[in-house]
Amino acid sequence: MNMRHLISPLDFSVEELDKLLNLASDIEANPAKYKDACKGKKLATLFYEPSTRTRLSFESAMLSLGGNVLGFSDASNSSAAKGESVSDTIRIISCYADICAMRHPKEGAPTVAAMKSSIPVINAGDGGHQHPTQTLTDLMTIRSLKGRLNNLTIGLCGDLKFGRTVHSLINALVRYENISFVLISPKELSLPDYIKQDVLDANNVPYEEVEQLESSMPKLDILYMTRVQRERFFNEDDYVRLKDRYILTKEKMNYAGKDMLVLHPLPRVNEISVEVDDDPRASYFKQVQFGVYVRMALILTLLEMAES
Ligand code: CP
Repeated sequence: MNMRHLISPLDFSVEELDKLLNLASDIEANPAKYKDACKGKKLATLFYEPSTRTRLSFESAMLSLGGNVLGFSDASNSSAAKGESVSDTIRIISCYADICAMRHPKEGAPTVAAMKSSIPVINAGDGGHQHPTQTLTDLMTIRSLKGRLNNLTIGLCGDLKFGRTVHSLINALVRYENISFVLISPKELSLPDYIKQDVLDANNVPYEEVEQLESSMPKLDILYMTRVQRERFFNEDDYVRLKDRYILTKEKMNYAGKDMLVLHPLPRVNEISVEVDDDPRASYFKQVQFGVYVRMALILTLLEMAES
């Protein structure tokens, strides 16, 4: 058995990612071809932290493949509330399902689960660490709308310290040619040093750190906005001080090139004004749809690997 998990975006090689994205595009073009591809299979969604998109897109993906879903969306209704460990829970779930997606507030929890699991484990977001299926979604969105994953200047704006979507996306994109980043954040929410050193510097990827959004916009191919995450702060005063630091408005969009895409993993709070939604460059709702196709491709791929 060649069972694989997806804990980090680097768990797949660039070639494997290309194959996965090609499969996702085929699913998008020919959904009927895949409607029974997972008939008789079960996906468990174990969500110890709130979610709308990730959990429901996984469930939608599995249902669109003809499979079934089970799970919990609130750990307080699971035996975690009685003190059951992640290691024990995954051993139980392995008896009930063929594949599972886990979100957990603690960094590393899906890794612990994968070590004890006899079914593929997908990291659906672990604390401030990684969110690899959001990254697959982002890669498919960029590839579909820009036509390439190389030769891009990407602005990452907002909470770069705790933002797991940003950490995962950087890890994934540095493997493509001629990528550069503009890191736009207040100093308190800047990208952690270990990512700058171990990922950007180690791969000779150019980046600049700035605090102002507008002055960076003309050079960007992609502007990736993020939410300042209240749940990651230890101090409410700090959150209140920083939460509205960046608000993308219709006026600010005038600084951007005509082909610059605006992405956001969502949910948004105030960081993109709703009036931007009508701008043809605003691509965050298209991104949500790509998330379903790419999760269908991921479920199919991991189940096929486990059976081979
Ligand atoms: N993008 C994302 O992870 O959204 P949810 O928290 O709603 O799953």
